[in-house]
Amino acid sequence: MCGIVGYIGPQDATPIILNGLKRLEYRGYDSAGLAVLNGDRIEIRRDAGKLSRLAELVNGSPISGSPGIGHTRWATHGAPSARNAHPHLGASGRVVVVHNGIVENFLELKDELTAEGTQFNSDTDTETIVHLVEHHQAAGLDLTEAARRTFNQILGAHGIVLLSADEPDKIVCARIGNAGGVVIGLGENENFIASDIPAILEHTRKVIFLESRQMAVITKEAVRIETLEGLPVQPEVHTIAWDAVSAEKGEYRHFMQKEIHEQVRALTDTLAGRVDFNDGRIRLPELNLTPELAKRIRRIYITACGTAAYAGMVGKTLIEKIARVPVEVVIGSEFRYSDPIIDEDTVVLAISQSGETADTLAAMEEGRKKGAVLWSIVNAIGSQAMRMADGYISMQTGPEIGVASTKAFTAPLVDQYMLAILLADLRGTIDDATRRALVADLRLVPDLVSRTLNSEPEIERVALKLKDIHSCLYLGRGINMPIAYEGALKLKEISYIHAEGYPAGEMKHGPIALIDEDMPVLCLTPKDPWHEKMISQIQQAKARGGVVIAVATEGDELVEGLADHILWVPETPWMLSPVVTVIPLQILAYHIAAIRGLDVDQPRNLAKSVTVE
Ligand code: AGP
Repeated sequence: MCGIVGYIGPQDATPIILNGLKRLEYRGYDSAGLAVLNGDRIEIRRDAGKLSRLAELVNGSPISGSPGIGHTRWATHGAPSARNAHPHLGASGRVVVVHNGIVENFLELKDELTAEGTQFNSDTDTETIVHLVEHHQAAGLDLTEAARRTFNQILGAHGIVLLSADEPDKIVCARIGNAGGVVIGLGENENFIASDIPAILEHTRKVIFLESRQMAVITKEAVRIETLEGLPVQPEVHTIAWDAVSAEKGEYRHFMQKEIHEQVRALTDTLAGRVDFNDGRIRLPELNLTPELAKRIRRIYITACGTAAYAGMVGKTLIEKIARVPVEVVIGSEFRYSDPIIDEDTVVLAISQSGETADTLAAMEEGRKKGAVLWSIVNAIGSQAMRMADGYISMQTGPEIGVASTKAFTAPLVDQYMLAILLADLRGTIDDATRRALVADLRLVPDLVSRTLNSEPEIERVALKLKDIHSCLYLGRGINMPIAYEGALKLKEISYIHAEGYPAGEMKHGPIALIDEDMPVLCLTPKDPWHEKMISQIQQAKARGGVVIAVATEGDELVEGLADHILWVPETPWMLSPVVTVIPLQILAYHIAAIRGLDVDQPRNLAKSVTVE
C-alpha cells in the first residue's frame, strides 16, 4: 500500500514529511513526492524512484512551508513516473491531493470532467479527485464541502488528504473503506496525518484512527471529525505504546503473517473495477484483448517460476475449462531451452510478483523472438514483465514484503479466472447464463477468504503438533494438485523442513512406499470433483500408518472420521477452491516456522526476486 504523511503547524513541513515517508518505506513504493504551502503558493517536488531521489530534488531546489502533504506511491494506474507521482495539483494550482486506493469509477468521472474541458496531466485515477474538488469549489463550495461532495462521488476504498492555498489554515482528509489507514497525530499547536503509525510516532503517541466513511478537518489547534454525510463524530484518542519498528507490522509479528491476512483486501483490489456484477461481464482493459485476437488464439503457454508457476497450473485448468483453449505450463528456467512451438496465434502468459525474475523474463524474450503474443500478470507496476508485454493484468495486491509469496499467489488465481471468462466471452464459447454464474461466484471470494483466515488459532494448534517433523507429503488432485506443490513449497522455504507436493493419483506408482508413522501426509480434500478420489487417498495413507492432515470443507463428516487433523475451509465453487484451500497451508507453514524461531520474512539463501539465472 502507498504511504501518506501530512503536517500542519508552526514547523517547516518538508523535513517532517520526508522523515515520515522514510518510516513507511517498508510498505514498498516506486515513486515519491511532497507539496508544501510556501506563503501563498503550493510548491511540489516529485519523481519516480526512491525517497533518496526526492531528497535530491528538495536539496537541489529547497521548499519549505506549512501545511504540507507527502506520498510514496505503489503504482496501480499509470506507470511510476514524475507525472504520475503524487501529489497531484488541480488546474487552478490552488488545490493539491495525495491518495491511497483505487477510484473504481475514475474512467466515467474522467470522461465527465474532460467533457467540461478539464485538462488531465497524468494517467492516474487520483487526478480525478482534485479536479472534482475544484469543480465543486467553482460552484461556490469551500474546501471542506467540495471535498465532502467529492468523497461521496468516488467509488472504491480510499485514504485521501487535500490542502488548498486559499484556505491555508486547514488540511482535509478522509478514509473510505480499507485502502490502508488514515491516522491523525495530535500535537501541541500542531497536528499530523499519516497512513500508518510509524510515520508520526516520533512526534506524538496520541492518535485518532479515522474509521471508514469519516472525514476530518484539521487545523493546528483542532481536529473536527464527521461522517461523509456531515454527522459529527466524537473520536476516541489512543496512546500508542509500540516502538516505531514493531508498528510497521501493526499487530503482526512478521510481514508474511500480515500479508496472509491482507488477502481479503488484496483480492478485493484485484477485482476492483474489473467485474461488472450487473451485466456479468469482465473488463481487463490493460490486456488489450480484442475479439479478433481472442478468436484466433490457438494455444497459451503459461510461464513462471516457483509459487507463480503453481498459480499458472491452476490457471491452466481454469482457462481450458472455461475458454476451451489449450494451455501448457512451462517453468521459466526450462521454457527457452525447450524450443517451444510458437506462432502468431500463440500467447505466452508470464506470471510474476516482482516482474523482474530473470528466468521468467528470458521465457518472455523467447516468446517474443518466436512471434508470440506476450501477456503478463504482474504485481510490480512498471516492472520489465509488465513493460515487455503486449497486454497485462496488474495483481493490485500492494507490495509483498515477505519472501514467501502469499497474496501474490491468490491474486493471479482470480486474475486467471477473470481472464478465462473474458476470453470465452469474446470467443463466443460461453453462454450468457454460464458467464453470469461464473462472474457471480467472484462476489463470494473476499468473504470466503475472510472466513478461512478466522481458523488461524486451530491451524496454529496443528502447527504445534507438527513442528518437529522432518518431512511431509502434500497430496492433491485436479485443480487442487498445484496447491499441494505450493503448500509444500511454503513449508520448505520458511521452516527448512523437507516437503514434497505430489499428484495423489501417482502415489501408488512408487511414492506410497514412503508412508509410515514418521511421514505425515497432508491431503487436499475439499468438496470438488476429485473429493471421492482423495477420500480413498486418505484411506490408503491411514492403512500404512500415516498421520493424515486433511484440508476439508466445513461439515465433511466423512473426512472428519478418517483424518488425524483437519484444516477446515468454507464450501467454495470448485473453480475458486484453490483460493481458499491454499490459505490453511500458508498459515500452517508460517506458524511451524515461527514456532521454530526462524526468520520467516527473510529465509536463509532466498531473495524476494531472483534476478539472476
Ligand atoms: C515463493 O514463495 C518464492 N518467493 C518464489 O518461488 C517466487 O514465487 C519465485 O521466485 C517467482 O517470483 P516472482 O513471482 O517475483 O517472479
